[in-house]
Amino acid sequence: MDVDGMNVAAEAVVEIVPGPAKEQRPPQKRRERVRNSIGVLVETLRIFEAVREAAEEEEQKEQSPKTSEDEAEVIEDKVQIILSDSTSPDRGTRKRKQRKKKKKNVPEEVDHPGLHKYWTRRYQLFSKFDEGIQLDQESWFSVTPEEIAKHVAERCRQCDVVVDAFCGAGGNTIQFALNCRRVIAVDIDPAKILLATNNARVYGVQDKIEFICADFMQVAATLKADAIFLSPPWGGPDYTQKQVFNLEDLSCVDAKEMFKVAKTVSENVIMYMPRNTNRKQLMSLAGVGNLVEIEQSVFRSKVVALTAYFGKLIDSNF
Ligand SMILES: C[S@@+](CC[C@H](N)C(=O)[O-])C[C@H]1O[C@@H](n2cnc3c(N)ncnc32)[C@H](O)[C@@H]1O
Repeated sequence: MDVDGMNVAAEAVVEIVPGPAKEQRPPQKRRERVRNSIGVLVETLRIFEAVREAAEEEEQKEQSPKTSEDEAEVIEDKVQIILSDSTSPDRGTRKRKQRKKKKKNVPEEVDHPGLHKYWTRRYQLFSKFDEGIQLDQESWFSVTPEEIAKHVAERCRQCDVVVDAFCGAGGNTIQFALNCRRVIAVDIDPAKILLATNNARVYGVQDKIEFICADFMQVAATLKADAIFLSPPWGGPDYTQKQVFNLEDLSCVDAKEMFKVAKTVSENVIMYMPRNTNRKQLMSLAGVGNLVEIEQSVFRSKVVALTAYFGKLIDSNF
């Protein structure tokens, strides 16, 4: 996935949408500031709103479709970008200087004008990049940057088993393995399974992962877990050209069907989606009366991706 402008992904704007049970409570806003392990500023803003409203609007939209412009307005209303103060994880460190000294040969699969920017961000994808990380061309723009993957995995710390249904080269799988007892990592592409296995070895977590090369939709019935992570392909970097990324724009799977199937594996679902995803559609997946938490990863005042949490993974502090 292209996370354009991405240096770190530790800043988050979090929007929590509670259901009717909480409706009595007046809308609240709360801000938190914490520093993560690499000293990157993390700030969280929470906004409360009824998911029923979103689901109803989505239903209405299906009856009388809005233009993409209307949808973009809705999205812009909701995006609250509040941070600009952040640093690259490496900036100014000795490690960075040492890396700069070593002249690196750009691997063939990323040695193209359009892909060069991913090479320059390789340590944001994998901090242990130089220790033997392997990626194919698709993975260069598909991997979840490490800071985002780490943040999501840390939220799953209490989970014993996590399914990563679209594991790719292992960006999320590795972080889940570092935080949970066991990970079941599925990918339809055997080449990705080989890459993910290698990359897990680099992080020393290969023994905690069961890799399955299969269509997730076909094997889901055989899986059970405490949480399931969904990062389906976004259809390449072109998603950035769209004003609004609708769930129907996912190239390989039917999003609603995928979500339904994922819920048979675990009630606790996490979806990693493009920053321009139609948020009303995302919210409506939760179903009327249920909760969803949408977290925006922000860098330099720019939202770089959305992560939606469903079920018990919703931050219980609200
Ligand atoms: C966006 S990538 C995942 C990247 C991963 N989260 C990471 O950080 O490395 C999506 C992956 O889904 C895989 N995929 C596509 N359709 C699938 C399916 N039906 N079942 C399982 N995997 C699938 C692709 O091969 C691709 O590796």
